[in-house]
Amino acid sequence: NYVSGGMKTIRLPRWLGEWAPVKTKCDLSKPCPANFFAFKICSGAANVVGPSLCFENHMIMSPVKNNVGRGLNIALVNGTTGTVMRQKTFDMYSGDVQFLVKFLKEIPEGTLVLVASYDDPGTKMNSEVRQLFSSLGSSYADQLGFRDSWVFLGAKDLRSKSPFEQFLKNNPQTNKYEGWPELLELEGCVPLKIA
Ligand SMILES: *[C@@H]1O[C@H](CO)[C@@H](O)[C@H](O)[C@H]1NC(C)=O
Repeated sequence: NYVSGGMKTIRLPRWLGEWAPVKTKCDLSKPCPANFFAFKICSGAANVVGPSLCFENHMIMSPVKNNVGRGLNIALVNGTTGTVMRQKTFDMYSGDVQFLVKFLKEIPEGTLVLVASYDDPGTKMNSEVRQLFSSLGSSYADQLGFRDSWVFLGAKDLRSKSPFEQFLKNNPQTNKYEGWPELLELEGCVPLKIA
């Protein structure tokens, strides 16, 4: 009996295991082509399960690493080398939004910006922050509000809107959890920037 517990455990005979597909970077549904970076960004679920940010198989922020928090979880990655430059959580409920303004303004050219919301990304949001995220390629920063769910990958010198973004409005009529919308998962392949 090689299959147990529905789709949970599948034990393959040893000879079959040798042909088992290789695990993709960040557990993507399919691998990225050469010269692309793999990434997966998950928002938190309600105020219970924290968000996670994975880039090129490197889990930058996650509940297991114990380096996520409520608000906006942001990681900066060098768009040429794929190395992590900075990671930080900004409390958007009671924190000082000026720290986020400063952080976003200091992002250097050629940087990829990964963002995952958790619990509440919107209460302290102001027009300056919305404008800064829009300039990184966000289409939804204008609408972000209390307990919305948001995942985004943008770049400092992006001249168009990023294709990597998902947004769910907090809506009591459609929320999956009582006070929060469904968690969001965004995965993809981002071309490395040839300097
Ligand atoms: C990214 O890495 C390259 C190579 O080390 C470096 O020349 C460049 O300045 C870095 N870019 C940023 C935004 O740090």
